[in-house]
Amino acid sequence: MQLLWLSLSILLLLQPPNFCQSKRLVGPYEPTGPSGRIKGGEEAEIGFAPYQVSLQPIVGSHNCGGAILNEQWIITAGHCVENYIPALVNVITGTNKYAEPGAIYYTEEIHMHCMYDQPYMHNDIALVKLTQNITFNELTQPIDLPTRPVRSGDEIVLTGWGAQEPYAGSVENLQKLTLGFVPLDECYEIFNQTSSMGVGHLCTFSREGEGTCHGDSGGPLVSNGHLVGLVNWGRPCGVGFPDVQADVFYYLDWVRSTISGNDRCYY
Ligand SMILES: *[C@@H]1O[C@H](CO)[C@@H](O)[C@H](O)[C@H]1NC(C)=O
Ligand SMILES: *[C@@H]1O[C@H](CO)[C@@H](O)[C@H](O)[C@H]1NC(C)=O
Repeated sequence: MQLLWLSLSILLLLQPPNFCQSKRLVGPYEPTGPSGRIKGGEEAEIGFAPYQVSLQPIVGSHNCGGAILNEQWIITAGHCVENYIPALVNVITGTNKYAEPGAIYYTEEIHMHCMYDQPYMHNDIALVKLTQNITFNELTQPIDLPTRPVRSGDEIVLTGWGAQEPYAGSVENLQKLTLGFVPLDECYEIFNQTSSMGVGHLCTFSREGEGTCHGDSGGPLVSNGHLVGLVNWGRPCGVGFPDVQADVFYYLDWVRSTISGNDRCYY
């Protein structure tokens, strides 16, 4: 079984900085019934996800998504910033086009979860502290942390610049996709009880032909105005299996303690 992280780090070694030739794999989705069908995926409106950021090792070259928590802190997946020095984590805000930044912020500190990748593919979450405060405006806003776990029936909105096909380039314009919640026990069975899944994960699914793909990693999943997930891993891409995200509600204590200056591990 091939389970792959969804960042584009590996691609950076193989491709020139600007690769944005293909579209994200999103297709028709029916949240509750035959109405609301979106054929061929949807471009996000300007200002649709003002909390969305693009993490770029070289400005102009999208690697991962992330979300703004407050003036100084960005949240993303651990594998998006693992082994990176702060100078290679440029944070692009306030735009639907990753290659046309509203603003660029620089990273002062990277805080990986202390149990990142232990066990394999668990605790895939990180916080990034910026050197300067973000200036908020219409296109640049923080997203609230969740106040309760996601439940069946909750509508979850994913945004990202991820690819349409496995390992393909990022898309120029931010895409959005509405997903449903898959209970963890069901998801665990679907993935044949893989040890890569644990209590800190959140599964989402809509239908075959839709889902997260390379370049979506670290990006936000939002439900009812709260950040509920960060893209972790999946079977690339949109081939009929749920996608597996970091469950932000599960990591609330870690997020709060890290932001307040106490990097302590509770897991
Ligand atoms: C940056 O934001 C923090 C948190 O809101 C605030 O306490 C601090 O005063 C701000 N710093 C500057 C230089 O504006
Ligand atoms: C789980 O196992 C079944 C039966 O071998 C297989 O068809 C399916 O693809 C597996 N699931 C995943 C996620 O690989």
